[in-house]
Amino acid sequence: MSKKEEILPDREFALNLLRMLNIQHSIRQHSEKVAGKALEIANTITKAKVDKNLIEIGSILHDIGRTKTHGFDHALKGGKILRQRGFSEKLARICETHILGGLDKEDAKEFGLPEKEYLPITVEEKIICLADKLIAGTKEVSLEERFDRWFSKYGRSPILLKSKRRIEKIQNELENLM
Ligand SMILES: [Fe+2]
Repeated sequence: MSKKEEILPDREFALNLLRMLNIQHSIRQHSEKVAGKALEIANTITKAKVDKNLIEIGSILHDIGRTKTHGFDHALKGGKILRQRGFSEKLARICETHILGGLDKEDAKEFGLPEKEYLPITVEEKIICLADKLIAGTKEVSLEERFDRWFSKYGRSPILLKSKRRIEKIQNELENLM
């Protein structure tokens, strides 16, 4: 691993970066809440090694792409911003895999994104993806509540139904590591 891939800013640096890029106040509050939830989940994991520092900073920066766009491509934009700034590839991956329950190639195509898989693979990616679903704005919700809101807004689309199954599977996987 090159040195560049390891650069992980501290909490203050990450929050300052969000401020510098004029992130909306509500997004910053959401990101801090996600960090709290993600750390709470991480603290319950006993059967796997979890990088809690990566969890905290990754959560704070997961929506950094929203300084450019609020479309689904904010995930990719976020990854790009972090790579350009020389931060850890692990942080960029966290941005890219946090949407819904992650996106497979088919989902990416449907959303007009480059046809690649953006699925959470590492335990840190999975925890942050799940924590993001469990925090709507700054409010803690269940996966059921989160998806019910999306279903009433966008309908029970195949992509949302698939995402729900995928994030439930991730939640089960993490519970099995407790
Ligand atoms: Fe996001």
